[in-house]
Amino acid sequence: GLADHVRIIEVGPRDGLQNEKTSISVETKVELVRRLAGTGLETIEAGSFSHPKWVPQMAASDRVLSSTLTNPPASSHPITYQWLLPNSKGLDSFFKVMHNVPPATDGYPTPPPSPQHESSSASTPGVGSKVSESNKRNGNNHEVSIFMAATESFSKKNTNCSIQESLDRFAPLMAESRRQGFPVRAYISVALGCPFEGPDTDPHKVADLAVKLLEMGADEISVADTTGMGTAPATKQLLRTLKDAGVRNDDIAMHFHDTFGQALINTMVSLDHGIRAFDSAVGGLGGCPYSPGATGNVATEDLVYTLHSLGAKTGVDLDEMSRIGGWITSEIGKENGSSAGKATLSR
Ligand code: HMG
Ligand code: MG
Repeated sequence: GLADHVRIIEVGPRDGLQNEKTSISVETKVELVRRLAGTGLETIEAGSFSHPKWVPQMAASDRVLSSTLTNPPASSHPITYQWLLPNSKGLDSFFKVMHNVPPATDGYPTPPPSPQHESSSASTPGVGSKVSESNKRNGNNHEVSIFMAATESFSKKNTNCSIQESLDRFAPLMAESRRQGFPVRAYISVALGCPFEGPDTDPHKVADLAVKLLEMGADEISVADTTGMGTAPATKQLLRTLKDAGVRNDDIAMHFHDTFGQALINTMVSLDHGIRAFDSAVGGLGGCPYSPGATGNVATEDLVYTLHSLGAKTGVDLDEMSRIGGWITSEIGKENGSSAGKATLSR
């Protein structure tokens, strides 16, 4: 068996909801985050500070953030909340809330520094963060997520700039975020296929970006199969290329969309390669507004079921996660996208 701990990054409240056409109330979003925090998860991407005209569903993320600060969800251990942003304007909006909302007084104990950060800053100068106390609220951590693309067409569509402009834009943003004590996760989109350039994204391009982002100070790279076109051989080749470029497994999380039903197979390939962090969305929610036809992230319930079957520890309660998947999908009028979730609920 696989006795290791595997970290799940729940992106349902962000990636899962950003693409929904029907408007979802802030109360529902806050309630989703609150319920997820009670499942044993360690990391939740809870919202995004993009342009509300382009991503209207995330417009109330400032209110979701302030709610996690003033009324932190109960959890058995500290939670890392991640907030996606496309540019410095998004960072300003994030800081505006962080700086102006005082933490609740009845919080949780401050967690010890995460061993991952300690080891990465110790072993690789310039990589990994010195996490200051300023990002800790009620014992929980807050981090920002940025995103860029491995192809020029997707970069243009998603962020209205070239890959190089994107790097230039994010360099000062990352420096400022880390200076203020907020670690930065960086997504590389279309790493295993692009809706505009086809399935054969150059893995060297992905590796090159990963190295640059780590040199710029990214604390974690989320390698994203935005379109779900990734296959087992392509995933294997991409991970080998990343390794050859000097990117360590500890610096990587994999982000699989399940459009072609390959997410769990690609997860197995990644586990074999030594990856121990995966993004997923409860109920299989999700999709990217700029990736036509792409469906949800791999369902958290399915991922948990597979990982537990291998003997891995996730800390996540499958029954509770399945109830949340059933609740949120019916709440927003979608089919439950998790096989393991539906099966668990009907037991
Ligand atoms: P732009 O039009 O080039 O931006 O858009 P701009 O800098 O020229 O500004 C235009 C206007 O937008 C200005 O307002 C700005 O103030 C405003 P005006 O002066 O005209 O009144 N503005 C903003 N307002 C609020 N929040 C902001 C912001 N930025 C500018 N942050 C931009 C460029 C990047 C802003 C736009 O293209 C955008 O918002 N894109 C968001 C794309 C997005 O959120 N995509 C989904 C998330 S990524 C994803 O899902 C992939 C992932 O899951 C991994 C994977 O699966 O691949 C992470
Ligand atoms: Mg995504």
